[in-house]
Amino acid sequence: MKILVCGGAGYIGSHTCVALAARGHEVVIFDNLSNGSEDAVQRVRKLSGRPLAFVEGDVRSLESLRMVLSDGVDAVIHFAALKSVSESCSEPLAYFDNNICGTIRLLQAMDGAGVRNLVFSSSATVYGDPQVVPIHEGAVLQVTNPYGRSKLVAEDLIRDLCGARKDFNATLLRYFNPVGAHPSGLIGEDPLGTPCNLMPYVSQVAVGRRPRLNVFGGDYSTPDGTGVRDYIHVMDLADAHVKAVEQLNSSSGCQAINLGTGHGVSVLELVRAFEQASGRDIPYTIVDRRPGDVAACWADPSKAFEVLGWKAKYGVRAMCEDAWRWQLANPNGYRRH
Ligand code: NAD
Ligand code: WQD
Repeated sequence: MKILVCGGAGYIGSHTCVALAARGHEVVIFDNLSNGSEDAVQRVRKLSGRPLAFVEGDVRSLESLRMVLSDGVDAVIHFAALKSVSESCSEPLAYFDNNICGTIRLLQAMDGAGVRNLVFSSSATVYGDPQVVPIHEGAVLQVTNPYGRSKLVAEDLIRDLCGARKDFNATLLRYFNPVGAHPSGLIGEDPLGTPCNLMPYVSQVAVGRRPRLNVFGGDYSTPDGTGVRDYIHVMDLADAHVKAVEQLNSSSGCQAINLGTGHGVSVLELVRAFEQASGRDIPYTIVDRRPGDVAACWADPSKAFEVLGWKAKYGVRAMCEDAWRWQLANPNGYRRH
């Protein structure tokens, strides 16, 4: 297939491009480099052994999208979004513009070009504060911040378009907590500024870029009092995207699928696993809870197995080992111009 990967220069997109190329697909990366980098694209090419096309462009530009969609694209994977919950609370309009308007433009461009297959990056954030764990796709959807709203609205827009165009197929992949890196150590997660997420923060403490970790809350009703999440290896996510995009032609309509391991891991369990993987101490202090955090959240991933034949292969140990290999080889992340 010829696949347009919007946001393919970013963390999850870059790993997915490598996996798509390994399956023999033709990949076109489309990214405005607001958070991705050309260095990542070069490394994707190196890992793939193929000269993958890269177009610098913004999903809010209908003109740029028309250009890349004009040339026989079979499917689109839409990763392009802003993704910081805290930033979305201070800059909601930027999130609505990028994530919602960007999705509308992409759908318009696909509709105009007759491209009918879409895989969309959604998030477990659409479940808000879950009433029940593990979380099933049929759980109540709710919004707790503007980032979450942008994902929920984008899901609805895609669902409505599938309702109106019977030949339009979309899979909404709801990721839980993506972590880890390609086992080569060549590509990985490279947050700009201070990491908001646990795993990149822990890796930067281990490599000496930050003195210690603040553990947000030690008094949750969880086994050790710290927050519990479903961490999922980015290589597993990449594999799920390949399966989802390959299956689009034989599916119809719009379906939402959870991508998680189905196992909850606490902050302190993850810290200990990272200490073992890295051989470094991770000093930490337990501080107040972070506003908006939930105690525990993990997936029921059974639908992914039923529909895509996918289930997670990697455990926490591999997640930490691979994140550490990437961090150690690239202590300051990618080269950015
Ligand atoms: P990322 O920031 O590394 O990748 C997103 C890429 O999209 C970046 O390369 C960025 O430059 C690009 N981009 C952003 N806005 C764009 C625009 N308007 N036009 C073109 N390119 C644009 O993020 P990621 O972690 O790889 O996340 C990928 C997707 O998965 C996002 O949609 C995110 O919301 C979703 N998601 C991420 C997580 C997570 O924790 N990483 C969890 C759930 C869902
Ligand atoms: C994990 C656990 C924190 C940092 C977020 C988004 C979600 C999705 C994935 C995009 C929690 C604790 C964290 C730190 C800590 N993104 N923690 N110290 O909050 O589950 O999910 O990323 O869609 O929408 O909300 O992930 O990695 O930030 O936190 O103690 O410095 O680690 O309290 O229990 P979260 P996280």
